[in-house]
Amino acid sequence: MLEIENLKVKLNHTEIVRGISFNLEKGKILSVLGESGSGKSVTATSILRLFDENNSEITVDLMRFDEQDLKNLNKGQLEAIRGKRIAYIFQNPIDALSPYRRIGKQFKEVLKSHQLAYHKNEVLKWLEMVGLEKEKEYILRKYPHQLSGGQAQRVTIALALCLNPELIIADEPTSSIDASLTDTIIELLISINQRMKISILFITHDFDLATRISDDILILYGGLVMEYGEKANIVNRPKHPYTEELFKCVSSINSREERLYALSGYALDPKAFKNECPFADRCPQVKKDCYLKIPQITFDSYGTQVRCVLYDEVLNE
Ligand SMILES: Nc1ncnc2c1ncn2[C@@H]1O[C@H](COP(=O)(O)OP(=O)(O)O)[C@@H](O)[C@H]1O
Ligand code: SF4
Ligand SMILES: [Mg+2]
Repeated sequence: MLEIENLKVKLNHTEIVRGISFNLEKGKILSVLGESGSGKSVTATSILRLFDENNSEITVDLMRFDEQDLKNLNKGQLEAIRGKRIAYIFQNPIDALSPYRRIGKQFKEVLKSHQLAYHKNEVLKWLEMVGLEKEKEYILRKYPHQLSGGQAQRVTIALALCLNPELIIADEPTSSIDASLTDTIIELLISINQRMKISILFITHDFDLATRISDDILILYGGLVMEYGEKANIVNRPKHPYTEELFKCVSSINSREERLYALSGYALDPKAFKNECPFADRCPQVKKDCYLKIPQITFDSYGTQVRCVLYDEVLNE
């Protein structure tokens, strides 16, 4: 459904994304997981090129959505796909809503901009679908600032659904709402995926959320894929030292140890990218070879991709 091969993105002449490939299959959920600054949002926004053209440079060998080549489409053609076929849901729902218009009016405008008619009953059904059954009439009359964070994020999801998209790109959709509401938004996304067969590209820095929601997980670091494969394989047989470190953080939170295990150091600044493993300065298993070049991707027998010198020899034998 969404195939990307060797995506590279430069912003303001800085290389941010350095050759990412993945394939999100129809009806599946793929999580892109990484610490802040690893290039998740830049990857997501490069799909429909939502950047200022003057300071961005995107190259990609293949970028296909449901057999349609996105690579050679112009801005207008990409704009027509946005919303109607590919919907984005962002971190902060309030930013995604227009502050001066009532929610009902926003539904009318979104539908109209895609040449679709507004039928109040249908909009009420979408609001029910996202769990706003009791307050649906009330919500249509309200302005965004009168809604709670959880209500606003549900409204942005309903606004996305009313256009009947085939793919939802959800960029950290729960990180600006209360932790207690995270579960309900995650369950809502899973139910949308299962009931409506909408594929989801789910972007998160939270390993726990990624393991709950996904079919496949792609772990990003320093603008490169570190490990990518089926969730069960990543969870049961993590290979990359970075994945193992992320795991230790999650298990120490779950076991409520007094001193939480935390990854040492900070995520890499793209200006400091070098021709070496990006994780080298933080990796407990680092050796000399790690500084010689960016390690290649190798596949294990389960089809998981790993970018690490420890597997170079083993898996290529
Ligand atoms: N317009 C820009 N110009 C230069 N650098 C940028 C720009 N936008 C993002 N970056 C840098 O790219 C890196 C990846 O950003 P982003 O994709 O937003 O990370 P995240 O994984 O947190 O979503 C960060 O180091 C960020 O500072
Ligand atoms: S290549 Fe080296 S530094 Fe990078 S993750 Fe593997 S062992 Fe660690
Ligand atoms: Mg981001």
